[in-house]
Amino acid sequence: MIEDELSREFLRVAESAAIESARTMGQGERHHSDHVAVEAMRKEMDTLPMRGEVVIGEGERDEAPMLFIGEHVGRGRQEDPEVDIAVDPLEGTNLCATGSPGAIAVLAAANRGGLLKAPDCYMEKIVVGPAARGAVHLDATVQENLDAIAKRLNRSVKDLVIIVLDRPRHEQLIEDIRRAGARIRLISDGDLSAGISAAVRGTNVHALMGTGGAPEGVLTAAALRCLNGGMQGRLVPTKDGTEERMRSMGISDPKRIYTERDLAPGKEIIFAASGVTDGPLMRGVRFFGHGIRVSSMLMTMRSRKIRFIDTVHVDDKPDAVIEF
Ligand code: FBP
Repeated sequence: MIEDELSREFLRVAESAAIESARTMGQGERHHSDHVAVEAMRKEMDTLPMRGEVVIGEGERDEAPMLFIGEHVGRGRQEDPEVDIAVDPLEGTNLCATGSPGAIAVLAAANRGGLLKAPDCYMEKIVVGPAARGAVHLDATVQENLDAIAKRLNRSVKDLVIIVLDRPRHEQLIEDIRRAGARIRLISDGDLSAGISAAVRGTNVHALMGTGGAPEGVLTAAALRCLNGGMQGRLVPTKDGTEERMRSMGISDPKRIYTERDLAPGKEIIFAASGVTDGPLMRGVRFFGHGIRVSSMLMTMRSRKIRFIDTVHVDDKPDAVIEF
């Protein structure tokens, strides 16, 4: 089982990307922050006993030097398992560059064919927690979806909090949510961690709505499969040639509505995320005199484990002091 063999290894990969990007926090260099995360992730990934293929990555082969779609990663011995991998080495590049909350390093892995190969375009999304799974539909009105979520959560619409990316394209959506009476949390970036929050009780987030990155959508779906959450997503071609690229990736109906199971159909799924800056579910990386502390989520779907992990990487010093 890849979950047993590789989950802790993938945790190490996410942690190292988080540590390297966290060192650049607040430097105002989002591309540099992303670059160091990619390098760290790629370096760790190549030590893993697997025959990995990147299905969601940093971009197409000609645009990204590392972790591009189709790249083979891992030790690659014949006896190693075949694994499909989705990565977002730094989700929220602006958040890291400005030292704002919510940046994470994240990846998902599944048995071959277990994650949708999606092009680097947008995706219209609606993400809910376990209670509202199956109750929402992308073709329903905002009012209908909010009514359905409220009913499943046994509360009124005015007691819901919906996260939306703060973008001009969401003007109508925001107006519709406001008119329905729900509360809104607008975020500048990071709809992947927002989607995860919607599936975890106690975060005071009840749904994510709107259009964000398709790669983030596939990663969200992988997390939701582990958390029993629900999702619908529809690809939104953004540039010329996207539809052709979709076809070459095996997507014949560009308007198809995908559920979390369609986006991440794997029988085994590993999801690992580490906080870069502080967020609702994970703290950001803390550097102290004798080490580094990293907070992570490690989830495995088939073995139904959700782990919140706090790792202290201790410096090789005899007098290292660890605080609780
Ligand atoms: P990056 O980490 O690549 O900067 O993406 C951040 C993000 O906010 C995602 O969470 C979201 O899906 C996407 O960008 C939205 O794209 P856009 O900024 O073009 O609206």
